[in-house]
Amino acid sequence: MSSRPIAQYLLPDTAELKNDDVFIGGVSLTALANQYGTPLFVYDELTLRRRAADAASVFDAGVAYASKAFLCGAMARLAVEEGLWIDVATEGELDLVLRSGVPAEKIVVHGNNKSRAEINRALDVGVHRIVVDNFDEIELLRELVSSTRPVSCLLRVIPGVEAHTHEFVQTGQEDSKFGLSITRGDAEEGLRRMRSIEGLHVAGLHSHIGSQIFEVSSFLKALEIVATFAREEHVEEICVGGGLGIAYVEGEQAPSLSEWGAAVRAEALRLFGPDVRITAEPGRSIVGSAAVTIYRVGARKEVADRTYLAVDGGMSDNPRPVLYGSGYEAFALRSPQAERLGVYRVVGKHCESGDVLIDEAALPLDVATGDLIVTPVTGAYGYSMASNYNRVTKPAVVFVRDGVATLVLRRETLDDLIRLEF
Ligand code: LLP
Repeated sequence: MSSRPIAQYLLPDTAELKNDDVFIGGVSLTALANQYGTPLFVYDELTLRRRAADAASVFDAGVAYASKAFLCGAMARLAVEEGLWIDVATEGELDLVLRSGVPAEKIVVHGNNKSRAEINRALDVGVHRIVVDNFDEIELLRELVSSTRPVSCLLRVIPGVEAHTHEFVQTGQEDSKFGLSITRGDAEEGLRRMRSIEGLHVAGLHSHIGSQIFEVSSFLKALEIVATFAREEHVEEICVGGGLGIAYVEGEQAPSLSEWGAAVRAEALRLFGPDVRITAEPGRSIVGSAAVTIYRVGARKEVADRTYLAVDGGMSDNPRPVLYGSGYEAFALRSPQAERLGVYRVVGKHCESGDVLIDEAALPLDVATGDLIVTPVTGAYGYSMASNYNRVTKPAVVFVRDGVATLVLRRETLDDLIRLEF
């Protein structure tokens, strides 16, 4: 564990470390915490726009932002402004994206258990694509699609590749709930059935091997398997899914979106020639490093072997450490350039011992109750997986840019929490 000040490369692109504060997008994090309260998600708009534009430019047209990583109206509009389309996996995501003003023809619909209502809505509004997952869905499409209500689809295939990542976020292996297996012949049968449906245009194949993957070679391996299958079937498009990893803690290094895209494109060109369109749907690599979370320390406690810092959020705003054992760094906002010589267990305020945000966080020795501490790289799968456990309200989210902060999601109130009661 490093005792050096927080590494700049873990922070959003515009972060400036001062002696007693950090500015992002030209806005003081201390001022934001005081104005909007804590916990607070702060997204650097410039970082979001750069990553989105990178993703759009390194593949062919039709790259979709995987909105499950972080979704609100402002984010959906930003992604589309930067040239991306939007991947939704449920009717809830579809509804929000449509309400945000995104045209239906820029929406890609996913899901391993799409309901009749979800498919009907997708067909009614005229989405760009449905990514088909299983035989039951194909039969549902046969009932619902017609020449007057046509749709374009990709078939999600299981390439049989085990990506090096946490078991919970691996999806390319044979034993997976997503897609149809190439090896078992199911993918071939799926395509045959899809092609027999009038009004259903089979555009190509889709494979997504997992998430938080650092090795580009895993994607190339999957692509090669898909290519062998695709050569026998006439396809216009191959979507390689998302899954590119990002650095969360010091010492981790991930390929950039451009490096990932260039490697995948080069391999695709070798395997298919120029006639097959190559698309992708990254989530984490666009939003992850664009945000930080600010917490306030409410209690500092020394026990036998360690010091605990309890903050005013926890597993409700960032369940990733509990779910996947994910690591994070932290820094103290009033001394971001100080050596981080102390070791603390940073915990949340929920009623369980497992509510740990950082097991061993390097922070300055003098962190005290009332201090603001910040965890970087919280832009992906934090807010989107937030819960109201212990009836804790969800934090506010602000976008910052050129010295201006915009509240894109207000903090939940206690009134919001009782809106479902009779
Ligand atoms: N496409 C499909 C079909 C997906 O299932 C996913 C993510 C993506 C694209 C985007 O993957 P990304 O580029 O964000 O890795 N909650 C977990 C991650 C779950 C990923 C689910 N699917 C986490 O916090 O690590």
